[in-house]
Amino acid sequence: MTRIAVLSDIHGNVPALDAVLEDLADQRPDEILVGGDLVGRGPQGSAVVRRIRGLGWTTIKGNHEDYLLSFRHRDVPERWLHDPEWSASRWMAAELGSDDVTFIDALPFSTTSRLAPGLRLVHGTPRSNREGIGPWSSESRLGEHLAEIDEPLLVCAHTHRPLHRELASGTVVNVGSVGLPFNRDHRAQYAIFEQPAAAGEPWRVEARQVDYDRDAIRRIYAESGFLVEGGITARLLAIELDYAAPVLVPFMEWAKARGVAPAPEALDEFFEDYEPGQRLGPFFERLAALRSKL
Ligand SMILES: [Fe+2]
Ligand SMILES: [Fe+2]
Repeated sequence: MTRIAVLSDIHGNVPALDAVLEDLADQRPDEILVGGDLVGRGPQGSAVVRRIRGLGWTTIKGNHEDYLLSFRHRDVPERWLHDPEWSASRWMAAELGSDDVTFIDALPFSTTSRLAPGLRLVHGTPRSNREGIGPWSSESRLGEHLAEIDEPLLVCAHTHRPLHRELASGTVVNVGSVGLPFNRDHRAQYAIFEQPAAAGEPWRVEARQVDYDRDAIRRIYAESGFLVEGGITARLLAIELDYAAPVLVPFMEWAKARGVAPAPEALDEFFEDYEPGQRLGPFFERLAALRSKL
């Protein structure tokens, strides 16, 4: 039986990646694929890229590879190169070695499994690495995405929320995130797929969660300089690690809607309005209403 492991969204978190590598050594899948976002949203982008590159696993490009490459090539609005709001992105882009940049620049948008060609891996959706599939995605939307590919199994990541849906036209699986899950489960997430014996039968999907040393990545945040030099963004990313829920984007959007600077002093007030783990749709709707009153 052919077994394919897919891991994604490591986000510069080597302790989480190491825990998954240990689990993979026990699981011994036939092939391993990596779904992008090796870098960004964490301090060890270069170390993660070097590790994955050394392992030689087929890897695709996430939106955070694109994002840090834009910083690296200074292909961003001028103020992003100076404003404190983007200091974490500048830090993470500068931390990459030139070999790392060459490697992530050359990654493809999507791939299929070499051993099980019915599996198509994309980072976000078949048409964009910035668009996400999550528990909120409707059946008709998932059907549209399946119609955009030739394979019966669509595997994705990006939203940091694991998901497994069986539709008449195929299967959609989000493997979650190794380094920064957003479903309130701190453990490193990935998935193993077992190819069906006969065409038309469903794939067996096993979502795996692996405990890792979170104190180690918190220490690396501090000791690497990322926490201080990365400003408010690095601080928010550390808070996301604690909650295993989105905080960075909700805070930035909240600050914009309230007309306040996205600074540490605003955090207490923000957490009076926002409970990590709450549904983001209604929160963003409230912010839009607030903004229309400004
Ligand atoms: Fe991600
Ligand atoms: Fe992503």
